[in-house]
Amino acid sequence: MDSLTFYIFLFIHLISLIVGFGAVLITDFFGLLWLRKQVSTKFMVEASGWAKTLIWLGWFGLVFSGLVLITQKGYVDNLTQIKLFFVAMIGANGVFLHKIHIALERLGNANMSSRLKFRIVVASIISQVGWWGAIFIGFIHRHWRHNISWPDNPWLYMAIIGGAFMALLLIGELIFGKTARKKNE
Ligand code: HEM
Repeated sequence: MDSLTFYIFLFIHLISLIVGFGAVLITDFFGLLWLRKQVSTKFMVEASGWAKTLIWLGWFGLVFSGLVLITQKGYVDNLTQIKLFFVAMIGANGVFLHKIHIALERLGNANMSSRLKFRIVVASIISQVGWWGAIFIGFIHRHWRHNISWPDNPWLYMAIIGGAFMALLLIGELIFGKTARKKNE
């Protein structure tokens, strides 16, 4: 496993992490400034649009280099299965965020609905949980133990995490969607 190829791709993995997660942190930082009304909606939308390219670049770089690393390693342990779930969750959430971004661009100077605000908050939480989860699992594999056969049933944890976010989104849509429909009546 400790071949030159492994280290070259581990380096690509880390550079991709810096590019992707760095852009996520900058976007969230601007989001925070926007919540505190220190930057305009227009600026926040433009900045997140630029960052989006870097986030996808980093994510694809991580997946590509990760696939080579896992092939070199030769096995996928239980905890890595949860890491892969986080990686997929980040990807799916990226598509959701893309839709949110389009809605924000269309909004212009109009007031933002509670439904859209709720979607932004949930998408940001999913993004943070996914990135920190994948980073933490990657880090302990590299620096503590390569083979971690915990938990016994990783699918259960994936179902709990995925189910909790789906339920949160559904509840939000029911509550805020109803408010939006009432306003239109
Ligand atoms: C959002 C995506 C990802 C993040 C944030 C991430 C993060 C990390 C981190 C922080 C490390 C430790 C690096 C070090 O300390 O030198 C690591 C190692 C690793 N990652 Fe990823 N990773 C991601 C995606 C992937 C994917 C998709 C795969 C496999 C298909 C993968 C496979 C690996 C492997 C095999 C290692 C080395 C583990 C070991 O030494 O036992 N990663 N990753």
